[in-house]
Amino acid sequence: MSTPAAARRAAAVEDAMDDIRAIENDLGITRSAVSAIRDRLIALAAERGLFPLDEFSAPAAGDGERSRLYRLAQDADDRFALYAQRSSGQVSTPAHNHTTWAVVVGFEGQELNRFYDRTTDGGVVETHQHIVEAGTGVAMLPDDLHSIHIDTPSLNFHCYGLALERLDDRVFFDPRNHAWKTFNSVSNIYEARPDRRRTP
Ligand SMILES: [Fe+2]
Repeated sequence: MSTPAAARRAAAVEDAMDDIRAIENDLGITRSAVSAIRDRLIALAAERGLFPLDEFSAPAAGDGERSRLYRLAQDADDRFALYAQRSSGQVSTPAHNHTTWAVVVGFEGQELNRFYDRTTDGGVVETHQHIVEAGTGVAMLPDDLHSIHIDTPSLNFHCYGLALERLDDRVFFDPRNHAWKTFNSVSNIYEARPDRRRTP
């Protein structure tokens, strides 16, 4: 899409992803690295004029989805994927891991993140919460567990060490059956990189 914001957005996203690659290269996959990646994405999200909400439309009633992803960046080898997640409200996930590092940063609305530890009997226990909204974010290592809960329309940025469609071994905890299961819930992904725009 060639809008005034789109070209500036593409350049700013490229700069951010260059910095994020360098952070991982310098610090490895560590708490300090993912915290620095979160802070870099908070800085990107602070450039609010780059992300007009009408260029990231939310699912409408009857679309059969309440959340969709816009792919903003992804390397040729599928590493370093950045998405804008647009939700029309009422989105919730069970506790899950990512098998790669993961960062969520706010832009519009609120996304409640609950964090968990595994228990000795094979379940999970909640350890803390963070409300992701503009100016804040959360950062996770590959084995960290969280769940997300959205009640109102929102736009958040999700960044992963590897593209979502490559994360085949993610697991979630099913409390009803007290069992861990494969987590293959991926929203529709819309291409939002310059010159590659298409719909699923
Ligand atoms: Fe997640």
